[in-house]
Amino acid sequence: MAFHKPLRNKQKPRSRILIFTISIVASAILYLLSSLVSTNEFSFSTAKTPENLVVKSNSQQREPNGNEKYLYWGNRIDCPGKHCESCEGLGHQESSLRCALEEAMFLRRTFVMPSRMCINPIHNKKGILRQSNNSSSEERWASSSCSMDSLYDLDLMSNTVPVILDNSKMWYRVLSTSMKLGDRGIAHVKGVSRDDLKEKSGYSNILLINRTASPLSWFMECKDRNNRSAIMLPYSFLPSMAAKKLRDVAEKIKVLLGDYDAIHVRRGDKLKIRKDRFGVERTLHPHLDRDTRPEFILCRIAKWVPPGRTLFLASNERTPGFFSPLSVRYKLTYSSNYSSILDTFVENNYQLFMIERLVMMGAKTFIRTFKGDDTDLSLTDDPKKNSKAWQLPIYTMDGEKC
Ligand SMILES: *[C@@H]1O[C@H](CO)[C@@H](O)[C@H](O)[C@H]1NC(C)=O
Ligand SMILES: *[C@@H]1O[C@H](CO)[C@@H](O)[C@H](O)[C@H]1NC(C)=O
Ligand SMILES: *[C@@H]1O[C@H](CO)[C@@H](O)[C@H](O)[C@H]1NC(C)=O
Ligand SMILES: *[C@@H]1O[C@H](CO)[C@@H](O)[C@H](O)[C@H]1NC(C)=O
Ligand SMILES: *[C@@H]1O[C@H](CO)[C@@H](O)[C@H](O)[C@H]1NC(C)=O
Repeated sequence: MAFHKPLRNKQKPRSRILIFTISIVASAILYLLSSLVSTNEFSFSTAKTPENLVVKSNSQQREPNGNEKYLYWGNRIDCPGKHCESCEGLGHQESSLRCALEEAMFLRRTFVMPSRMCINPIHNKKGILRQSNNSSSEERWASSSCSMDSLYDLDLMSNTVPVILDNSKMWYRVLSTSMKLGDRGIAHVKGVSRDDLKEKSGYSNILLINRTASPLSWFMECKDRNNRSAIMLPYSFLPSMAAKKLRDVAEKIKVLLGDYDAIHVRRGDKLKIRKDRFGVERTLHPHLDRDTRPEFILCRIAKWVPPGRTLFLASNERTPGFFSPLSVRYKLTYSSNYSSILDTFVENNYQLFMIERLVMMGAKTFIRTFKGDDTDLSLTDDPKKNSKAWQLPIYTMDGEKC
């Protein structure tokens, strides 16, 4: 064993020099070739010219390497079925998108993303930004959908899982190639497991897999999410893949905020109450209404946020001044305080929320509404995923300490 070592050590530098020399010669040849070719009409996509090494801002310009294979789940997130009139909020759709991206990673395929995301009208009011004083006149952003690349940086995303859009030239090229390839071109699958798609040779060699996902929601395909080791992309993946424009705006706001803490207060959508057959109001989150009121928030966060701190608050609560009581102890700010920066960029509520999320992620202390994992600070101890049990809302603090 002992005499193998010096031998190996001796070989290494030599082979390194050899590889180095080869690569210099090769790149010189490639550079020469590509500069010759670039004067012609042809594109020479495999050459790593200096220009190719620069990250292109437009993902449509990403060049294929020729042996990529593709995964397509349909042209709408969360609506592969027939009824596509409405859609869920951003969080739901991201959960679905993440599920599809994980499958693409698992299969080592490029994911064909829908080029637009549907915007749920109830999630698209301008009131949050305007801090409108007049709830009856809440303005809305007009659009019912937005382009995917106005939300996400697809080049950045492609470093982790390659993606193309379903309105790109590349996609049309894939479709026409798949037709020419015959049997090896495209497989339309439904209800085939991820493992079968990966292992069975019938699928693994096919250029394009067209999967019909669950008609309910794409994320139904990822039911094994409760198995933590099966999760390939963390929840924070899509939030951190925000489009450059959105990241830049968030950065500006973070600079203005300086040293700050943040709190995300979910009320509106989560406070849903319904009456049982005796006319008694019931809710899926019995403590949520209480725990997200300012007097309870003050009590709960006292141990995490010292008095005098700047507190950035994001919420879907629409009542003007609802959180004002927090200003007895904190310097309260909302995204509406930065509407002069946001107004020129933000076209819909999804973009606004993505910016708010980045700002919240940059806080020194961040308090969520619900606990995500054990290390999270949260306003309520009610679980986010409920047991579907409609319970009586609780407003008292009997025997509980905050
Ligand atoms: C809200 O409306 C009242 C009158 O209804 C007005 O005096 C006040 O200035 C308004 N506040 C804001 C922030 O627009
Ligand atoms: C609130 O909005 C409605 C509809 O735009 C308008 O008619 C009304 O005058 C507004 N009220 C106030 C106090 O601004
Ligand atoms: C994918 O499959 C669905 C259902 O079979 C079909 O309606 C759709 O046209 C297919 N899409 C492509 C791009 O082949
Ligand atoms: C959890 O996921 C891992 C990785 O996919 C798998 O090996 C394991 O068998 C799964 N465990 C259960 C209990 O399903
Ligand atoms: C944010 O705006 C509110 C009024 O909407 C104001 O009371 C508060 O002082 C502002 N916060 C900061 C830090 O400027």
